[in-house]
Amino acid sequence: MKHTKVKDLLNSTTTLQEVNAKGWVRTFRNNQFIALNDGSTINNIQCVVDFENTPDETLKRITTGAAVSVIGTLIESKGAGQKYEIQVNKLEILGDSDAEKFPIQPKNKPSLDFLRENAHLRVRTNMFGAIMRVRSVLSFAVHNYFQQKGFVYVNTPIITGSDAEGAGEMFKVTALPFDNTPRTEDGKVNYKEDFFEKETNLTVSGQLEGETYAMALGQIYTFGPTFRAENSNTSRHLAEFWMIEPEVAFNNLDDNMDLAEDFIQYVIKYALDNCQDDLKFLEGRLLEEEKSKPQAERSEMALLEKLNFVLENNFKRVSYTEAIDILRDSTPNKKKKFQYIINEWGADLQSEHERYLVEKHFKCPVILFDYPANIKAFYMRLNDNTEPGRETVRAMDILFPGIGEIVGGSEREERYDVLIEKMKALEIDEEELSWYLDTRRFGSATHAGFGLGFERLVLFVTGMTNIRDVIPFPRTPGNAEF
Ligand code: 4AD
Ligand code: MG
Repeated sequence: MKHTKVKDLLNSTTTLQEVNAKGWVRTFRNNQFIALNDGSTINNIQCVVDFENTPDETLKRITTGAAVSVIGTLIESKGAGQKYEIQVNKLEILGDSDAEKFPIQPKNKPSLDFLRENAHLRVRTNMFGAIMRVRSVLSFAVHNYFQQKGFVYVNTPIITGSDAEGAGEMFKVTALPFDNTPRTEDGKVNYKEDFFEKETNLTVSGQLEGETYAMALGQIYTFGPTFRAENSNTSRHLAEFWMIEPEVAFNNLDDNMDLAEDFIQYVIKYALDNCQDDLKFLEGRLLEEEKSKPQAERSEMALLEKLNFVLENNFKRVSYTEAIDILRDSTPNKKKKFQYIINEWGADLQSEHERYLVEKHFKCPVILFDYPANIKAFYMRLNDNTEPGRETVRAMDILFPGIGEIVGGSEREERYDVLIEKMKALEIDEEELSWYLDTRRFGSATHAGFGLGFERLVLFVTGMTNIRDVIPFPRTPGNAEF
């Protein structure tokens, strides 16, 4: 007999004579009521065991975490909270779970820290089941959005020789031995003898390769893992994260902002429409978590309200220069509450400043644009008519409440001469990026794109507060378990 998913059983429109459900026991109450979950939905199905006619030996084996198969009748439930339940006729223990040893005991309310250490089992909790289903639906929504608009999905390389962001925070990829490393005459590592016969690293962004495809296919997007060896042990940074990078030929910065806003609103709407049960649960979790915070730190909106707010309101577009003025005059700046005091135009914005703008000043998502050229990457388009010494580039960052930067992007420098000039100034190897420069040598045109950190999106939608809780097996400094 084929088993039916719990979700389908709970959504049944009639009672059913004989059904089979398989899943894991969440709880077993009164020697009679199994709350069974199979991951298809956050909701458990109640399975009522005929304990008088079930051997004690079997009853003892119905423990939290055990895998069971039940065959029985789907009947209307007398209990509150569920429409249907299974009156069990036959129960089989598929896999035992020692109650003394199984770490995820609902009664103990395991902490998020404890669950992180048990990342392989935490997905058996309601919370992580909900998060990971929402994550899955969001990634489908990403593809849906771009595919419907005729974007081509491009798989850019994971191993690459280029440092797209010029930030130098890369994991090296090598097959060379650490002892007896081959050296050149001047004592440097001889990468000529390495697997790729050159220095390589894990990609920090697929953008540069993506641009070459956009300059042929028009509209492309990537969606893949990216790696950064930045030693920032924060609740917003991962060493391995997933990034979505659309790149569009003939788009300027305004088009880029429109695309990013429309895209983000679409995927959030998609999650709201398709993950109701999970999001409702996560909203409750967040409320619970916030109770332990002082009033001033609690968010003003509940999760669903916050998500709807983002759908219903335009993102506020603010130039870097306006933002600096706002920050300079802000109370925390004057009272020296910021760790980094904003004195002058040109200062790089820290997350405390971004969060002030979004959470205290504008109270909505913000798109900051036209940043100083020298705090942004080499490939961003220099603005026409900027004052000497105050050059700005057509960059944009999207800032979200509770998250900070969720998107970074720009219009690209399409003028060969200007780009070369910039690369020279930053001592970027032209030889190494010759292939990238070809996009500017042959048929160059205005184009723009952005990168959205997928985990930051999942953080926002699920209302979780630590990025380690929205990716199955997080990689952070000092942590690569599993
Ligand atoms: O702002 P970033 O560094 O931009 C780029 O990589 C560009 N090449 C994108 C482009 O224009 N195609 O990164 C883009 C986004 C950030 O806004 C953030 O959401 C996310 O990627 N991100 C991280 N997410 C988690 N952990 C990290 N260590 C992240 N670093 C960046
Ligand atoms: Mg950025």
